[in-house]
Amino acid sequence: MTATGVRDDSPNLLLIGIGPGDPKQITIEAIEAMREADVFFVLDKGEHKHTLLALRREICERYIPEGGYRFVEIPDPPRDRHPDDYTAEVRAWHDGRLAKIEEAFAAELADGQVGAFLVWGDPALYDSTLRIVEQIAEAGRFPVRYRVIPAVSSISALAAAHRILLNRIGEPIHITTGRRLLLDRGGDTNQVVMLDSGCSFLEVAEPDDHIWWGAYLGTDEEILICGTVAEVGQLIKVTREEARIRIGWILDVYLLRKPEYR
Ligand SMILES: C[S@@+](CC[C@H](N)C(=O)[O-])C[C@H]1O[C@@H](n2cnc3c(N)ncnc32)[C@H](O)[C@@H]1O
Repeated sequence: MTATGVRDDSPNLLLIGIGPGDPKQITIEAIEAMREADVFFVLDKGEHKHTLLALRREICERYIPEGGYRFVEIPDPPRDRHPDDYTAEVRAWHDGRLAKIEEAFAAELADGQVGAFLVWGDPALYDSTLRIVEQIAEAGRFPVRYRVIPAVSSISALAAAHRILLNRIGEPIHITTGRRLLLDRGGDTNQVVMLDSGCSFLEVAEPDDHIWWGAYLGTDEEILICGTVAEVGQLIKVTREEARIRIGWILDVYLLRKPEYR
C-alpha cells in the first residue's frame, strides 16, 4: 500500500501489538516502540471499552514510567449489529470511523510526532486498525508514515495454555470466526475459531470432535476447558455465560479438531 504525500517529517504511526492480555507477553520491540510515542490513540470498542482502556493505560504506566505521552480516545460511530447486508454495514461503519480518526490525527499530531495504537493481540489477526491506517495513508488527506509491530496472538496464547500444537503432523490449520463457522457448516480438520459469541461449535461440530477452549487468556480470569464436544460442549456454553455476566465482558477462542485428518 502506498502512502500519499508523505515527507520525511510527516507524523509517524506505530501499530503496536500488545498480546492478548498478559503484560509479560509484550515484546521488547513493542516496548521500544511504545517509548517513541507522543500520543496513544484508543478506538472505542463498545462493550469491552473500559477494561481494555484500563489495560492499555496500565501497560503504558508499567513500561513508560517516566510518562511524557498522552491518551486520546476516538469515539466510534453507531453500528447495526444485525444488518441485512453485513459486508455493506461494516464498510459504512469503517468509513465513518475513518473520518473520525483522520480528524483526531489532524488535531493531535504535528509534523515529526509519533502516534501509536496499542493493538490487542497481533495486529494481523481480525483487527481493523491496520486496514484503517492503510486507507488513511492511501487517501493522502493526512500524510502519514506507519509501521507494524507484531505480537503474541490469542491463538498462540491458547495453544500454550493448553500445551498443544494447533495441528497434528503435517496437517493444515484453518483460522475462522464463529459467524463463518456456521456459514461453512464446520468441515476442516483443525479450526481455530475467534469472535464466536454464540458457541457455534454446538451447531456444527460432531460429538467426537475435540475442543480446546480458552477465555480471558493471559489474564487473572483465565479459564481453560478441553474434551470432546459431547463431553464439554454444554459446560463451555454455561461457563462462558456465567463468566460473561460475572465479569461484564468476555474474550474467548478455541481449537476444534476432527478425530481423523480428512
Ligand atoms: C477482534 S479479534 C482480535 C484478535 C487479536 N488481534 C489476536 O491476535 O488475538 C478478538 C477475538 O480475539 C480472541 N481473543 C483476543 N484476546 C483474547 C483473550 N485474552 N482470550 C481469549 N480470546 C481472545 C477472541 O476470539 C476475540 O473474539
